[in-house]
Amino acid sequence: MRPTLRRKLTVSFLLISLISFLIIAVFANIILERQFKKYVIDNLDQEKKAVVAMLQDYYDISTGKWNVSSIENLGVRVLGNGLILRVVDGSNNVIWDAMEHNEGFCADMLQSMAENMEKQYGIFRGGYTESSYRIQAGLTGGTVTIGYYGPYFYSDNDLLFLNTLNKLLLLATGVTAFISIFIGMYTSKRLSGPISRVIKKAEQISQGNYNGRIVEAPNTREIVELTDSINTLAESLGRQEILRKRLTADVAHELRTPITNLQGHLEAMIDGVWEADTERLKSCHEETVRLTKIVMDLESLARYENEKLRLQLEDINISQCLSKALKSFENEINRKGILIITDLTDQQAWADKDKIMQVFFNLISNAIKYTPSGGKISLSVSDNSDYVVISIKDTGIGISEEDLPNIFERFYRADKSRTRETGGAGIGLAIAKSIVAAHKGSIEVKSEYGKGSEFIVYLHRNKAFL
Ligand SMILES: Nc1ncnc2c1ncn2[C@@H]1O[C@H](COP(=O)(O)OP(=O)(O)OP(=O)(O)O)[C@@H](O)[C@H]1O
Ligand SMILES: [Mg+2]
Repeated sequence: MRPTLRRKLTVSFLLISLISFLIIAVFANIILERQFKKYVIDNLDQEKKAVVAMLQDYYDISTGKWNVSSIENLGVRVLGNGLILRVVDGSNNVIWDAMEHNEGFCADMLQSMAENMEKQYGIFRGGYTESSYRIQAGLTGGTVTIGYYGPYFYSDNDLLFLNTLNKLLLLATGVTAFISIFIGMYTSKRLSGPISRVIKKAEQISQGNYNGRIVEAPNTREIVELTDSINTLAESLGRQEILRKRLTADVAHELRTPITNLQGHLEAMIDGVWEADTERLKSCHEETVRLTKIVMDLESLARYENEKLRLQLEDINISQCLSKALKSFENEINRKGILIITDLTDQQAWADKDKIMQVFFNLISNAIKYTPSGGKISLSVSDNSDYVVISIKDTGIGISEEDLPNIFERFYRADKSRTRETGGAGIGLAIAKSIVAAHKGSIEVKSEYGKGSEFIVYLHRNKAFL
């Protein structure tokens, strides 16, 4: 079983914070130790100098005598700090000697310092060290020998300070680890929660359940995009599913009417109910023509949609093509008394002439079919920087908002009654769309129900885009 995102994130958080904290702790420790060592050595030097200066003061020049009790006080005080004094006068007579004063204490002290240094460093190369200084006192002067554990030593208090510092660093590591586990768990929960919902939804989709959307809004941009796309996927698959079911029903419906008519007519003729006269045979022929048109439409659509359309590209005059397409509808336009307004600037584009003509036929035919007598159709060809823009606008019946997203689907017809007068099978726009798509262009529609529609085709002007 692979680890969950949640566990992975929590462990990563923990590791990152532990590693960074350990690095910080190690460096802090090294730097602190070094600084502390320097501080201890400086302190020792200063104390030695202070001892020499004080001893100078303890010699009375006027009487030529040493103030022995002050020297003893000083000796006892610095002994507590780890310094073993031995003061002699100019004739080498001992004035005060810490070893004589308390030999046992001195030995214990040196022993304890050796232990402290070993405790701190494991192996420490140190031992009893002595430095001698001359004291300016009268004519003969004197000498002080300061003994200590060298080259430097940590007192119990120093060790306590260092240990407390280490313990604090350790505590901080623990607290950081705890906080990072907490943050890791919290963050990963916030991340994995929505992802789990997306997984659940994807499973539902794979089982064919397209209903229901993920409504919780996550606060991570990528996760929002993920939930949005799974919602969109569910929606478009749902729509495809409906269209697919509808398509099958529509094909059956489209084929049934002519087949039923044909079958009825033929049976009537076979049974002798009808005479097989020219009129009836013509009616049968019309039905077969209708069937053939549907099959041919389906065939050409399949060709446009499935294989990569082989386009015979040439530099064509779009306005001329549009005028030519319009001309073939002259009779119908006159019959319906439709007013045609054109605004056709000369625009060239690289396109397959026959296929683009097919697009114009389909769009103009629709405009005429869905515009009542006395209506108006405006055709225009213009350009915006990269595209030639073709607009076919009518004042016809318009398309409802509900139908608008579907009209480019195969067999989709907004007028669900499917009256025979308006004819078509609902394939014209699907064909137009696939041809335009093969030209890497686009087609869009604007429509207001009851007022009219406008179909706009964008074709690349530049061959390089094709
Ligand atoms: N100019 C328009 N005005 C109003 N509705 C339109 C217009 N053009 C298309 N439609 C709607 O879109 C549907 C699909 O159009 P399409 O051209 O694909 O099919 P059709 O015209 O019904 O049949 P076919 O083109 O296959 O003979 C039409 O049935 C109609 O409801
Ligand atoms: Mg049509």
